[in-house]
Amino acid sequence: MAEVKTVGVIGGGQMGSGIAQLAIVAGIDVWLLDSDSNALTNATKSIGNSIQRFVSKGQLSQEKAKDALRRLRCTSSLEDLQSADVIIEAIVESEDIKKSLYTDLDRIAKGSAILASNTSSISITRLASATSRSSQVIGMHFFNPPPIMKLLEIVRGGDTSDATFMTVKALAERFGKTVICSQDYPGFIVNRILMPMINEAFFTLYTGVATKEDIDTGMKLGTNHPMGPLELADFIGLDVCLSVMRVLHVGLGDSKYRPCPLLVQYVDAGRLGRKRGIGVYTYGKLPEAKSP
Ligand code: 3HC
Repeated sequence: MAEVKTVGVIGGGQMGSGIAQLAIVAGIDVWLLDSDSNALTNATKSIGNSIQRFVSKGQLSQEKAKDALRRLRCTSSLEDLQSADVIIEAIVESEDIKKSLYTDLDRIAKGSAILASNTSSISITRLASATSRSSQVIGMHFFNPPPIMKLLEIVRGGDTSDATFMTVKALAERFGKTVICSQDYPGFIVNRILMPMINEAFFTLYTGVATKEDIDTGMKLGTNHPMGPLELADFIGLDVCLSVMRVLHVGLGDSKYRPCPLLVQYVDAGRLGRKRGIGVYTYGKLPEAKSP
């Protein structure tokens, strides 16, 4: 099994910065890449704040925190990822954009490098087809917030090799995660079950069965979930929920996966959840509109 010394993370959003944090805390050198320098500044701040929360709870020493932060390097140049043993991509959920990135990564990454996607539902087999190393392409599906959530869902594409799987499984365990393994079918395991539940919560609201507060309180107290489904949808991003529902609907061809019209309407209106200050709920001051 190949030893992982350097990881490249692409995408400085919530997921990418959380993944970079897991790697530096595990003692791995990280290149965090984003084309937007503001995203890199925000990612560095949020990693620092999150690590400090672990220090103040006594779960990480100040010294280890400093060491971890020294392992983080930010860049906007793809060429800097040449030294990475594993590159984890956490960019926007668009198959075309991801495929074009995978073609570029295939060109610049060293021959032995593994290319992993944090996609929430796009086919790993199709992403792999944009490269000449399909046996080294795999899904590493993290959950938000990555430093806190205990699970990592590994997705094997049609051609993913056992060696790639074993290297990535060992890496996930260094991150302190419990691993589950899914074959490459729409929504994998968790989102195949979670997103229809969230979609059904939207139908429950849309058809006037109950208020948003009662739907969320019902699921929180009635099933012991930490967040109600509508609150969770705002946390994940309504655009992400809608895109997963569309992948399930198209990929599985069953009308039970049709996205709720209310979910579609909120996304059309730019009500994308917490990241936009408004989704099902409203969250204080609205930030300036920008792309998801
Ligand atoms: N970094 C460090 N610590 C953090 C943190 C972060 N980013 N976020 C939360 N924490 C810590 C807090 O310090 C706190 O620690 P303590 O209990 O020891 O004091 C603890 O986590 C709880 O945080 P808060 O008190 O701020 O808030 P909550 O109690 O409401 O917990 C939550 C927040 C952990 C997000 C919890 O509400 C939760 O688990 N929600 C469900 C999250 C979930 O389901 N995520 C998966 C979404 S699906 C997905 O991501 C897949 C994708 O493909 C769509």
